[in-house]
Amino acid sequence: MFPSFCDSHTHIVYAGSREGEFADKIRGLSYEEIAKRGGGILNSAKKLHNTSENELYDQSLERINEIIQLGTGAVEIKSGYGLNTDDELKMLRVIRRIKESSPVEVKATFLGAHAVPDEFRDRREDYVDKVINEMIPVVASEDLADYIDVFCDTGFFTVEDTERILMAGLKYGLIPKIHANELGFSGGVHTGVKYNALSVDHLERSGDEEIEVLSGSDTMPTLLPGSALFLGLPDPPARRMIDAGLPVALASDYNPGSSPSGNMKLIMSLGCIRLKMLPEEVINAVTINTAYAMGISETHGSIARGKVANIFITKQIPSFEFFPYAFGSNLIDTVILRGKII
Ligand code: NIG
Ligand code: FE
Repeated sequence: MFPSFCDSHTHIVYAGSREGEFADKIRGLSYEEIAKRGGGILNSAKKLHNTSENELYDQSLERINEIIQLGTGAVEIKSGYGLNTDDELKMLRVIRRIKESSPVEVKATFLGAHAVPDEFRDRREDYVDKVINEMIPVVASEDLADYIDVFCDTGFFTVEDTERILMAGLKYGLIPKIHANELGFSGGVHTGVKYNALSVDHLERSGDEEIEVLSGSDTMPTLLPGSALFLGLPDPPARRMIDAGLPVALASDYNPGSSPSGNMKLIMSLGCIRLKMLPEEVINAVTINTAYAMGISETHGSIARGKVANIFITKQIPSFEFFPYAFGSNLIDTVILRGKII
């Protein structure tokens, strides 16, 4: 019996898929090159714009039901494929509908600053102004988000943009959780810690300085080995983080561009195989540590008296180590959410 996974970083509400870019990547294009050609996040934004709210809900719910069967009991979901006020609100309303209709626990994050839309090409700062002056106030007034995120990375948003957005969000009580140091040594980890982010996520480009900044902070370093694998990025220094006394969380980053999978059992295996984490360390990393990174560790992330009964029972296995070891087998037999068999 395991506590259900808490997946603290996903973009599971999206329209369609991007397997054409998958093939482009195999042919040799990088994630940044694809983005520059209007692919990537902007491609998903176009698809989302042309998809009705009901259809977006249906597509997303199918993925939610899939991850429930794969053992996930709580999920954080980001906006960020809207990139204009109406479409960002559409995404956030779909997240709210999932929260109301599914037994999975849901936290919503506003990620208006995920990419600069075409209309603002070469006017990035004007887009940041729009996020601050137009989007954040309405997202907050409709109570559509718990957290706020910025893609603080090379080619996307700068530290200055990120600081402005986080300050604006904090005025409305939106706690930061940010994308940092995936593509470059972006300063995102430092910024996240400075603004007391609940988590800083990705961290493929991290060295001693980032580890030192995180030490003694309340910010959870969250690694996303699915996207590092899928994009062929360097592996983040999980071992060095743990050896320095840091906790580490592992999440799926389920999204159409860099990690088209929400399989948290596979994420556990990648933590062991790629990041050299021990089976007991990855179990903590996908349950209690990700619960912390979603702000729900009081009620989720472990099996304990008084907590929500989110549990899965495996098929018969010889040891707990067998679970991440058998990386291609599902092994989940029974899923229980809120005390009920699903
Ligand atoms: O976490 N890095 C930024 N955002 C996503 C990718 C989104 C996409 O490519 O659609 C990520 O990897
Ligand atoms: Fe992400």
